[in-house]
Amino acid sequence: MRYLVLSDIHGNWPALEAVLQAAPPFDRVLFLGDAVGYYPDGDRVLDWLMEVGAECVLGNHDAWLLALDRLPVEGAVLEILAWQRDRLSPEHLAFLGSWPWQKEVEGALLVHGSPCDPLLEYLDDLEPARQAFACTEARLAFHGHTHLAGAFLQLSGPRPWVRYQAFRQGGELLLPPKVRALINPGSVGQPRDGVPGAAFALWEGERVEFFRVAYPLEKVEARLREEGFPPWLWERLRVGE
Ligand SMILES: [Fe+2]
Repeated sequence: MRYLVLSDIHGNWPALEAVLQAAPPFDRVLFLGDAVGYYPDGDRVLDWLMEVGAECVLGNHDAWLLALDRLPVEGAVLEILAWQRDRLSPEHLAFLGSWPWQKEVEGALLVHGSPCDPLLEYLDDLEPARQAFACTEARLAFHGHTHLAGAFLQLSGPRPWVRYQAFRQGGELLLPPKVRALINPGSVGQPRDGVPGAAFALWEGERVEFFRVAYPLEKVEARLREEGFPPWLWERLRVGE
């Protein structure tokens, strides 16, 4: 089975479109959370995830959108979520509300943040990664949230070591038999590792391939201007931050 692994689309439809044009053939879609937030096309992203029957877990922006009635809507991030929620149908909201915080597919754990805190923890360093390996028995876990494409690798044994490998420009990861991995495909809609292209991965058995694909940022910018979104949203896309 070949899985297209996506995370942190954040309503960026032109980025998702470019991913789908560039992706090699795949059987199923795994989505690691944050369909909404930041960019205007949360509804189209949710339509697509429904259409392809993606296996989805909840991201923090998805959870915040669902909880907006109980949150004070302050600051740009929540204002954007409120704007998006007004454009979602009851079907979209029910779909989003059906996503669990974590799930397993073919023995791999799917979470947004980390196995210890599926919604909010940033796996961005070796120490949280060590703890994350201790929080799950899965050999392979996929996560998002940091918007950084890469993998934490752990060799099991009496003195396990953990190291990090970034995949900012794409690349291939082959998992040797005793190695465990926490893998982030990177963000489709808002990469933060200094490379502006949309990030995604393809997983098949012991092999994970990372991809980066350029897309027309001016399309996103035009759409954001049209809807009156603040300039920092497209400025950060140009630099991948
Ligand atoms: Fe995110």
